This record gives sequence, structure tokens and C-alpha cells, in this order.
Amino acid sequence: MKLIPFFLLIGWLFIGCDSKKDSDLTIVSPNGEISLVVGLHNGQPTYAISRHGESIILPSKLGFNFQNQPQPANHFIINSTHKNSFSETYTLPYGEQKEYDNSYNELVINLLEDNEPFRRLQLIFRAFDDGVGFRYHFPEKEGMDSLLIVEELTEFNLAQDLESWWIPGDWDSYEHLYNHTRLSQIDATKKRNHPNLGTTFIPENAVNTPITMISSDGVHISIHEAALTDYPDMTLGVDTARLKLQAKLVGHQQNKNKAVIPLPFSTPWRTIIIAEDAKKIMTSNLILNLNEPSKIKNTDWIKPMKYTGIWLQMHIGTMSWDYGTGKHGATTENAKKFIDFAADNGIGGLLIEGWNTGWKDWFTGVAKDSIFDFVTATPDYNLPEVAAYAKSKGVELIMHHETAGAALAYEQHLDSAFALMNALGISYVKTGYVGEILPKGEHHHSQWMVKHYQKVIEKAAQHHIAVIAHEPIKATGVRRTYPNMISREGLRGQEFNVWGKDGGNPPEHLTVIPFTRMLGGPVDYTPGIFNTQLEPWRKDNQVNTTLAYQLALYVVLYSPVQMVTDFPENYQGHPAFQFIKDVGVDWDKTIVLDAQVGDYVVVARKEKGTSSWFLGGITDEHERKLGVRFDFLDADKTYQATIYQDAPNADFRDHSNAYEIKNYAVKKGDEKQFYCAPGGGFAMSIKEVTQ
Ligand code: NOJ
Ligand code: CA
Repeated sequence: MKLIPFFLLIGWLFIGCDSKKDSDLTIVSPNGEISLVVGLHNGQPTYAISRHGESIILPSKLGFNFQNQPQPANHFIINSTHKNSFSETYTLPYGEQKEYDNSYNELVINLLEDNEPFRRLQLIFRAFDDGVGFRYHFPEKEGMDSLLIVEELTEFNLAQDLESWWIPGDWDSYEHLYNHTRLSQIDATKKRNHPNLGTTFIPENAVNTPITMISSDGVHISIHEAALTDYPDMTLGVDTARLKLQAKLVGHQQNKNKAVIPLPFSTPWRTIIIAEDAKKIMTSNLILNLNEPSKIKNTDWIKPMKYTGIWLQMHIGTMSWDYGTGKHGATTENAKKFIDFAADNGIGGLLIEGWNTGWKDWFTGVAKDSIFDFVTATPDYNLPEVAAYAKSKGVELIMHHETAGAALAYEQHLDSAFALMNALGISYVKTGYVGEILPKGEHHHSQWMVKHYQKVIEKAAQHHIAVIAHEPIKATGVRRTYPNMISREGLRGQEFNVWGKDGGNPPEHLTVIPFTRMLGGPVDYTPGIFNTQLEPWRKDNQVNTTLAYQLALYVVLYSPVQMVTDFPENYQGHPAFQFIKDVGVDWDKTIVLDAQVGDYVVVARKEKGTSSWFLGGITDEHERKLGVRFDFLDADKTYQATIYQDAPNADFRDHSNAYEIKNYAVKKGDEKQFYCAPGGGFAMSIKEVTQ
């Protein structure tokens, strides 16, 4: 389909902007490829975006509906505009690369209502080489200390019926499989019956962000948001006839308004990543760039690591979270065994779930805001003894705070819970929000909860605690400002394979995630299951990948904390475990070597501070050969590669554990092809050979 030439739209955009020159309302990206033009159409602000002169976003309206206020939509005039250019290079305490480039041209537009009550609104646009971000700023106004927003009216009018990867606009969960349809075919309301989720609320035909779309000429476009800390999550209503996405903020069950904002107030950034292909979109830093620099001065205590857990056992059922079942997992004795396993294998951390009282009550339906106090351990778990033992072995404990969705109760316990962790020297917490949210009426992604998640991050930062959040608010790059927000779930994790009621996650799932969910930030997927058939516990389901694919995930999926998920006994004596022991968690460089959304992806990452490289490649349910050109290696160095790859007879359905390990020398310029079985992949470590 032919894209509409951008210049034809400009005239339309400027109707009503007589006092401003076209150039005052246009910015281009630093490399000149992406243009953004803002206009007032009969007094309502609009914007449009093009790339190489062809429309990506057609003129799209901006604005709000307020409660108990006249609607300002048709009454704005442009009071003033100004432009800025900015360029910086920054570093993060951990990341996909050593340095991040943040270069953009900015356009600020000050709007004024031309009649009573003369409200002002500022629009801030930034054009980057990989897309556009914009936000609204509400200035102070005398006699008005807050505004009630009923709906945000931001539109994204797409220029084509794009190929789209989307999950439904669920107000409580992101744990859905991605759907692949044309924009015009999106029907999210069909996805309401979800087998494995405690809570899911999909009120209309809308999608959650990021939604990633591909044009007929291969341009990859992803719409999301950045710096979501105090405002409702933005889902996108889908007008399938007009190819229009429109902000639909997550609301409250009783309140008419969806957001209460104090004045002055800046909304989160609305982001449109635009890249020439799948490789480029995966490495976009646009979301991070639109977050503020770190507010934590000394970040030395925030350390990437691998971690094992007393965790999978509960999901499989060989152990229990609750005490008194005869198979309680979090006992002092078990904890020490796991600490030994971690210490013996260079695994930095250990997550222990079910260490505290309350689980039994939760499972029997006691009012859930009264069951967990986050400080009382079960009688068979000597917390100080376990913490001291972990310290003596150099293993970091990850505390577990499952709130059962009782977020207000958790806030009331936060000080004492974090004080206990400080007293024991525990500096990581995994939080969880399974089930309906208390206070009643709130959803996981409503404004109150967004503020709750942020409160937990900020309080944790004061206590020098890093947070791994499950059932979180979506990732919007807040880790730049609060690097202690180290990783989060917010996707359909490995646990779905174990529960398996609906067949688990197909092999395609993780060939989509790097181009959708992961654009927001790190994912706590929990990779590394070797017993992919889940024998002898699961007759009817399994992990739908080969073992080599599981290894590849340590490279394909980015997270500064990566779980070593399987039972320790499944790793002991297993030659492929060497890869998990070796693989890095913090990187100087990330290069996507090859990728097609939903088909395959090959990633190379250079470990921070070393000359070692790690490669991961995965395919969907189709077998294929993935090629690698070793151009990224240094010309003057020699390297030894170890590859863990699917055996010729491997298949995720059968022989999922059939793999081979090979060693050979590699040098810059070499080219090789690697066979990937259906649902398979390969993982490779490359080490410099020093003479
Ligand atoms: C769901 C989380 O995703 C999982 O990791 C955790 O074990 C359970 N909730 C219990 O908290
Ligand atoms: Ca979950």
C-alpha cells in the first residue's frame, strides 16, 4: 500500500495557525530522517509524523476531557513556541551497553485557551533518530490546584493497515500471548477468557502497549510510553475502520475520572519508536532517554547477578509455599542447601518464596489485607540464621513479598519490612500482586497502583534495596531514574509452561517479546529449564522449547538479574550447565545480528569489562539455519567458541533435550550457520585466547 506523502498533509495541519510560520511548528530528528509537524486544526492541537517524507502518523488529535470543566478542545491558540537541540552520552549502573546516546531536537508549544477560563497547556515534542516522544505539561493556575481527567484524547492515526503484534488492553495483567493481525483485524475483546490469570479486566477493544507494527515496506513502529510514575497506564482503543489508536486510560471501578493530577503536572511521554527493521527496533533507547537521570547518587550497591530459587518446586508442586503441608519449601535446611548450590556454581543470589506466615490463610480465603506482615517467618525457617549463612557464602538473598494484591496493606508494612531486610543485610526484594487489588475499585494499572509501585521503588531506594516486581506496572524506562527497579515480570513468564492449562507459551512467544514488551526494559522471564518435558510431574504439558533455546534466552532476553530456574539436581553434572555458569549478566555492547519479529532472533552481547562475547539465537516452531558473521570480534585477537546447539533430531515436542556441544576457534570475519530445530536455538560463549 502506498503511504500518503507527508507534504500533502501539511496544509491541512496549519489551517487555523495563521500567526505561526510552518517552520516554527516542525522539527526533524538529528539525522533528518524523521519529521514531526504540529498544528492547530480549528483550535485543537494535532501532530503528524513522517519518515523519509512518507507518513507514519497522519494528523492526530491531542487533548483531554476533564470532569466538571468546560472542554477546551476547540479553543486553543498558540501563544509561543521554542526549539532546543540536545545531545548527551550517559551511562547506567548496569545495562545492555556501556553508553547510551540521547540526541534529539525539541519543540515546545505553549497553548492558551482564547476564552474563559483561559487555561494554558504546554506540548513538548522530541524527535530522535529512532522516533518521537511527546508529553503534555499543565502549568500552575491560580485558584486551581488539581484537575480531574476523565479521558486523554491522544490519537495515533496510522497511515497504513499495519501488520500488528498486540496483547489486549487488560487493566490488570500483561500476561497474554501476543496476537498477530492487521490493525484492522484487532479484536481484543475475544481475549477476555484467560485460563490462568487470577485477575484480568478487558473492558473494550483496546490493546496494551507496547504495540509493535510493521509497514508494507518493513518500517517497524512501536507505540508505548515512558516515565509512567504517577498517572494511569495508557491502553490504546482501536478504531479498526479508521486505523486509529486512541488513548484509553486505565480507570477505576467507581470513579468517573481516571486521573487526578496536581498542578503543575507533566504526563508520561507518549512514545513512537520508528526503525528501519527488527534489528534496529530491538536496540532503541528512546524509552530510557525520555526518563530522568538517576536520582540515586551512589548506585554501587545495585549489582546484576544470576539467582537460583526455592520457587519452581512450588509451581510444580514438589514443595509448598505454606507451612504445615509436610513439603514446605522454605526451611532452614533447604535454604542452606540452595545457598551451597549457588555458592558452588558462582550464582550470586537466591530467591526464597514461602518463607513467611500467611500463605495458608491466603489459600483458604482469609481477608487478604490481614494475612501477610512481611516480617514473621514460619517456625521451620530461621531467617537470621539463613541470612548469616548466605553472607558467609557470599550469596545474596532475595526476599519475597507477595502482597496478594493487598497493596494498601503492603504500604502500611513497608517500613518494618524494609527495616528487617536492612538489619539482615538483604538487598533484593521480589514483590508480587496476585489477584484483585485492595483498595477495592482499583486495577493493577490504575493511577493509584502506578503511584503505589513508584512509592515502593522510592522507599526501597532509601533502604538500598533493589526491586524485582511481578504483576508490576509495565516497564517504561524508570530504571534510568531509579536503577534499583532492577527487573520485572509484566509478561507471560515461564510459569505458564509449568501450569500449562492452555498449552503454555508456544516457541514463538519469545521471538516476539524482544520487539514488544522488552522495548520497555528488562524482563524477569525465569529461563534455563533443562527438564523441558517436566518429567515426571507433568504428563500433559511441558516447556515448549529445546534445551538449547533455554540457554539462548540468557542472551536474547535482557535482564540484569537472570534466574537459574530449574531444580539444582537437574543441573548437577550436566555439561550444558557450564553455559549458565559462564554467561554474563551485564554488557558493554549489544548487537542484534538477525531478526524477524515472531520468527527468529540472534543477539550477540559483549560482557562488561571483559573481552568475552555471548550469543543467543532462537527460532519459533519452524526449524531454520541462523547465520552469524563474526564481524563484531576484534581483528587482532584470537578466540575460542563453545556452542550449545540443537542435535539434528531435536524438536521441542520430542527430543527437546537433544543437544550438542562443540568447540572451535573463531576470528573476525568468519561466517557460520547454526541449525535450529523446531522450537530450538543455540547459545555460544566466545572467549579470548591469551597466548
Ligand atoms: C506469581 C509470580 O509470577 C510467581 O513468580 C510467584 O511465585 C507467585 N506469584 C507467588 O507469589
Ligand atoms: Ca506472574
